[in-house]
Amino acid sequence: MRIGVLTGGGDCPGLNAVIRAVVRKGVSTYGHDFVGFRDGWRGPLEGLTMPLGIPEVRGILPRGGTILGSSRTNPFKIENGVEQIKSNLGAMGVDALVAIGGEDTLGVATKLGELGVHVVGVPKTIDNDLNATDYTFGFDTAVNIAMEAIDRLHTTAESHHRTLVVEVMGRHAGWIALHAGLAGGANVILLPERNFDVEQVAGYVEKRFQHQYAPIVVVAEGAQPLDGQMVLHNQELDSFGHVRLGGIGQWLAEQLEAKTGKEARTVVLGHIQRGGTPTAFDRVLATRLGLHAIDAVNDGDWGKMVALQGTDVVRVPLVEATRELKTVPLERYTEAEVFFGS
Ligand code: F6P
Repeated sequence: MRIGVLTGGGDCPGLNAVIRAVVRKGVSTYGHDFVGFRDGWRGPLEGLTMPLGIPEVRGILPRGGTILGSSRTNPFKIENGVEQIKSNLGAMGVDALVAIGGEDTLGVATKLGELGVHVVGVPKTIDNDLNATDYTFGFDTAVNIAMEAIDRLHTTAESHHRTLVVEVMGRHAGWIALHAGLAGGANVILLPERNFDVEQVAGYVEKRFQHQYAPIVVVAEGAQPLDGQMVLHNQELDSFGHVRLGGIGQWLAEQLEAKTGKEARTVVLGHIQRGGTPTAFDRVLATRLGLHAIDAVNDGDWGKMVALQGTDVVRVPLVEATRELKTVPLERYTEAEVFFGS
């Protein structure tokens, strides 16, 4: 078979490990041939390709980002986009696609699958918000980066008797905030899953100062105050209809400073959470997902996504992965609340 591979949406550490595993097993075990599509769905749409054989995947296991490039291109928003993809795949003799992506990229894969394109999906996102898989690779790396930042912020916050608000990514799911906050010993963690009361947060901050410690507040970029509108940088939508989140950390620090009389500063971790080398956990998960994805392709098991359930990698219908967002359950948040303000 001739198999196309693409990576779409926000990049994350571990993408190269998947590509490597797919190609290594695909060539050496099954004798398949590969073509790399550049920049997500833009690749098959515009016929942008690169060679993808064993030489191209050597040495990429520890490298962050994606050697294929990525984009948030949505072929369903482009006139004749789907027909263009089908005709390009036919002209290039591509029998099947391995699509490595999050909610948006796999949403396109699901619909293309229903329209007859042979596709297998691999879940990725630092946000860990994909249903049907216990973890996505990239998440563990992002959490470790945020945890290390929080560890460092504790000492400087103490020295200056300041509140430090750390804004982390995660879009509409609070997984990064919850895990980084718990691992880093944050004094308050705020998630999109539960609107927060800024007076209560100020109370936690004051309590922490009374104990002679400086508070660290971890806020997910999608968190919102009780009665307010979501705080956004701008209202522009990408081609999948998402607004760009961010700004809640700054707003919160201003509120906390005004309410407590103690200086409050904000650190926005931003794309640092997505950059650089993957953790061992993410390398192993990404490698295993890649190995199972090429098995699914070889079996002609189209319309499936490989997923981690417990410690097993299983195949689930792509549509299950994209049907709803996996958000933080309330009981997980309640566990963390024990540490707030103390
Ligand atoms: O989905 C991954 C993610 O990093 C989100 O956490 C974040 O909201 C978004 O992508 C940022 O997107 P961009 O890189 O396009 O600014």
